[in-house]
Amino acid sequence: MSTAKKEFKKVTTNSLLKMKQSGEKISMLTAYDYTMAKILDHAGVDVLLVGDSASNVMAGHETTLPITLDQMIYHAASVVRAIDRALIIVDLPFGSYQGNSKEALSSAVRIMKESGGHAVKLEGGSEIIESVQRILTAGIPVMGHLGLTPQSIYKFGTYTVRAKEEAEADKLIEDAKLLEATGCFALVLEKIPAHLAKRVAEELNIPVIGIGAGGEVDGQVLVTHDMVGMTHEFHPRFLRRYLNLYEDMVGAFQSYVRDVKSNDFPNEKEQY
Ligand code: KIV
Repeated sequence: MSTAKKEFKKVTTNSLLKMKQSGEKISMLTAYDYTMAKILDHAGVDVLLVGDSASNVMAGHETTLPITLDQMIYHAASVVRAIDRALIIVDLPFGSYQGNSKEALSSAVRIMKESGGHAVKLEGGSEIIESVQRILTAGIPVMGHLGLTPQSIYKFGTYTVRAKEEAEADKLIEDAKLLEATGCFALVLEKIPAHLAKRVAEELNIPVIGIGAGGEVDGQVLVTHDMVGMTHEFHPRFLRRYLNLYEDMVGAFQSYVRDVKSNDFPNEKEQY
């Protein structure tokens, strides 16, 4: 159990700031449904991200672009019903905030009202700053997300490491500072060189959570289905698999099929 579990009843944006200040690393994982969220919260994970990666993991889309605001609200509300302690952050999906700050605010308000989530996450820097500002004026906490931003995959053309070149690294640092100055409570950095992520974490006062961004940031996030090995065709270097559930589950389902077909299940004790 993390020390935060003892120190804070419920994790808040303020607890995360205190964790950064005290040097305690922040644990964050994705959640999209009630049952998994209950397990994650019980395990003491500090932050649950209702990521738009639900588009890939739950719906089988190739990218995060197709998932809708209604679908994100459905996933987030299921996670909220499971939680005693964790902070719940919900991704604003593609098309619900870019380019129109009024629409961004109404998307964020719908998430907060209809799901009960505690904060929203948006991808991008200076391009979306008006949306970030407007959401913050409503008292809704905002987490930023820079580096590899999957909603821009058709601009990047590839899921490779971002900000390896100086110009992109400089823009990332500028954007990170801008997001902090605007009032974001935390920042995700995805798939960038570890030395750059370290520099951002050192230069910002708000917590910086990495995925594929090395160990010298304030916390880590992974997609839960990847870290428990339910997905098995995805092998990025940054991913540590803690279980091999794909193989274990296939084995269990095969046993069930065998037991049903051989009339072994149900046995006498398993019936009325
Ligand atoms: O949607 C998601 O799962 C994310 C994480 C990869 C940070 O944004």
